[in-house]
Amino acid sequence: MNMTSYMPVRLFTGEGCVKAHPEEFQKLGKRPLIVTGRTSAKVSGALDDVLEALDGAPSVLFDRISQNPLLTDCREAAALALANECDYVIGIGGGSPLDAAKCVAVLAANPGMTQEELYSLKWPNTPLPIVAVGTSAGTGSEVTKVAVITVPGGRKKSMHHVDMFPKAAFGDPAYTLSLSPEFTASTAIDAIAHATESYFSRLANDLSQTYAVKANRLILPVLEKLLSGDVLTLDDRSLLYHGSIYGGLAINITGTCLPHAMGYLLTEDYGIPHGNACAVFLPAFIRINRTNVPDLTDRFFREIGYSDETWLQIVRTLLKDICVTIEEDAIEKAHDRWINNSSIKKGWGNIPAEMCDEILREISKPKI
Ligand SMILES: [Fe+2]
Repeated sequence: MNMTSYMPVRLFTGEGCVKAHPEEFQKLGKRPLIVTGRTSAKVSGALDDVLEALDGAPSVLFDRISQNPLLTDCREAAALALANECDYVIGIGGGSPLDAAKCVAVLAANPGMTQEELYSLKWPNTPLPIVAVGTSAGTGSEVTKVAVITVPGGRKKSMHHVDMFPKAAFGDPAYTLSLSPEFTASTAIDAIAHATESYFSRLANDLSQTYAVKANRLILPVLEKLLSGDVLTLDDRSLLYHGSIYGGLAINITGTCLPHAMGYLLTEDYGIPHGNACAVFLPAFIRINRTNVPDLTDRFFREIGYSDETWLQIVRTLLKDICVTIEEDAIEKAHDRWINNSSIKKGWGNIPAEMCDEILREISKPKI
């Protein structure tokens, strides 16, 4: 048995957790830069709660992080932090603002770094302290050291560094009440993808697999309810939120595998939302594992309490309206991405780039 892990975030969850712990903000500095998207931080009530927790302390707001956060926007936010002498960063939102906040914290402490220097992870100065306030149930970014940023040229690039763990993270499920059923489903399946990919990673250990199973067990019944058209209660939202944190804890140990590696392509070039884009590859991922590690696959479905068929049916129901046509030249162009891809290599068995090409052909549906 192996439980090797490291997760230094002070995590608070439950209704009202932000306002209940103002000291977690105040002790980190005098003037935070608050990094958000355009709407969710405000609509959810999270921004108001954070401002209340700051208790009148000066803060600076950067509220222009887009859904797939751009490195250029992170640079702009970091410049704003520098100009205003901000001494810590608060990210409020779903995965995009939280990942952006991590990148901004690095850039603000290391002005003038090139993209290469940023991704080298050899930074002269320690990033500014980070607080993460989640407003969606999917990313798990609250408890990870990962930031996925879209670099000039349009590719999503992830970086991992222990100094990007938030000092504190808050997960109030009430912030997710204002999210649409479609967005809720897409973020929930992102968490399912995190957990499932993590379970089948070669880096998985007893702790990460326990987290992965728990995430599936918490999220799947609520996802079924959501897909049947029911309105989710706050209790349901709480299960989704805590499930997403379990997913984050799982990938904190293992990282993600093939569905995330290939899902980035669908988001970058076809505009498919991140969670759905990864979920498109889950049936193929399960099929590969069923072939390469049948006993582990049996154990997974036994532990989560769902059969292969029911689990796959949930994924397919969620994806029923997703239609993407991938032309042969696009498959050829993407081919090199799958060669020596570290996330794909983390999965069991040999998954050559040609198999990834085939998977793309399989998921491609002609436009009607
Ligand atoms: Fe994800």
